Amino acid sequence: MAQLTRRKFLGGASAIAAGAAAGPWVLRAHAQGAPIKIGLVLPYSGVYAVLGESITQAMELVFARENWTVAGRKIEMIKEDDEMQPPVGIRKTEKLIESDKVDILTGPVHSGILMGMRDKVHNSKTILIVSNAGADAISRERCSKWIFRTSFSNWQPNQPMGGWVAKNLTKDVFIMAPNYQAGKDQLGAFKETFVPAGGKLVGEDYPKLGETDYAPYLTKIRQSGAKAVYAFFSGTDAVNFVKQYDQFGLKQSIKLTGAGFLTEPDVLPAQGRSALGVITGHFYTPLLENPTNVAFVRDFRAKFGGKMPDGFACQGYDTAETIVRALKAVGGNTQDKEKLVAAIEATAFESPRGPFRFDPKTHNVIQPFIYIREVKEVAGGLNNVPFDKVADVRDPGTGCTLPS
Ligand code: BEZ
Repeated sequence: MAQLTRRKFLGGASAIAAGAAAGPWVLRAHAQGAPIKIGLVLPYSGVYAVLGESITQAMELVFARENWTVAGRKIEMIKEDDEMQPPVGIRKTEKLIESDKVDILTGPVHSGILMGMRDKVHNSKTILIVSNAGADAISRERCSKWIFRTSFSNWQPNQPMGGWVAKNLTKDVFIMAPNYQAGKDQLGAFKETFVPAGGKLVGEDYPKLGETDYAPYLTKIRQSGAKAVYAFFSGTDAVNFVKQYDQFGLKQSIKLTGAGFLTEPDVLPAQGRSALGVITGHFYTPLLENPTNVAFVRDFRAKFGGKMPDGFACQGYDTAETIVRALKAVGGNTQDKEKLVAAIEATAFESPRGPFRFDPKTHNVIQPFIYIREVKEVAGGLNNVPFDKVADVRDPGTGCTLPS
């Protein structure tokens, strides 16, 4: 081993002393060479596990395209399973912020977990790019300059559907969603346009999140005189509800409609032909023909064993794309958070869903379109075929004043 001479030792010691004196500059230079840590708080188990998986896979696709290096710094993803439990999600958020010292956080899927994370993120000035949870309040009275959302507010896919269903399907509708914040938000947004358009709510029910037996609810629907059901369910709830709706014999007589999550490609293979004919509103379908989406569907399927990307994958793509572009814009400097926030705010690009940009009023994504889609058999598989659309859907942002 080379001997450490007294001169070298003194030189080294004085460099350390100088570094300590220079303080922030040296620390910053060091931090800039260090990996950029992205913390993911997502469900990898439970009702929404398939959603967490799709978001993660699409993020990996984008970072792999960049060779896991942006502006000279390695990208490191730290994944935490929130187990769909708000206390677990909050604990994992604290761990990522305080122990791992992540540069950027993303997730969660569950609106209740997002509401629980909000103050931790805001008070610690941690940048959070929400990649699913739609809690409306995060784009309204609980908005934060540190929080962006690439997915949707719960209001966005549902508000256009209320008027559409009343005008094009029927005025007698039974509505249903799991009993937690996202369910209440989503059906509230549907009612906002359904009732003024002359629609009549013949029934309304909120089974628990993770319900496996919908028989008592389906009995009520049968007896309600409804001509259609409008539902929000996702993950394994969507699989169980759509299959049991068909097995109960309701599909032929009472049209099933809802928010797009009900029949996304993450659940379509398990739902099978029970999903045929279901009409939903969503910002994405893998059948969009724009060049970014064509390449995304091709690359995603090639990397993940033929799996069809869903809206959640599109959200993961847009989250990673936002991160890559904003980091390039600031030359990889994650220390100056104000600058990084400004770079994220200015990010705009062609997404698989169409032109992507954040609403400067709320930091929530503006949906280029909400597509009205019907599940049909296409090219040998089931898919959501768009046949109508509503343009430029942005959350009203009531009560949000940024920066706050
Ligand atoms: C939510 O909890 O916000 C949510 C979960 C699944 C799909 C859509 C929204």
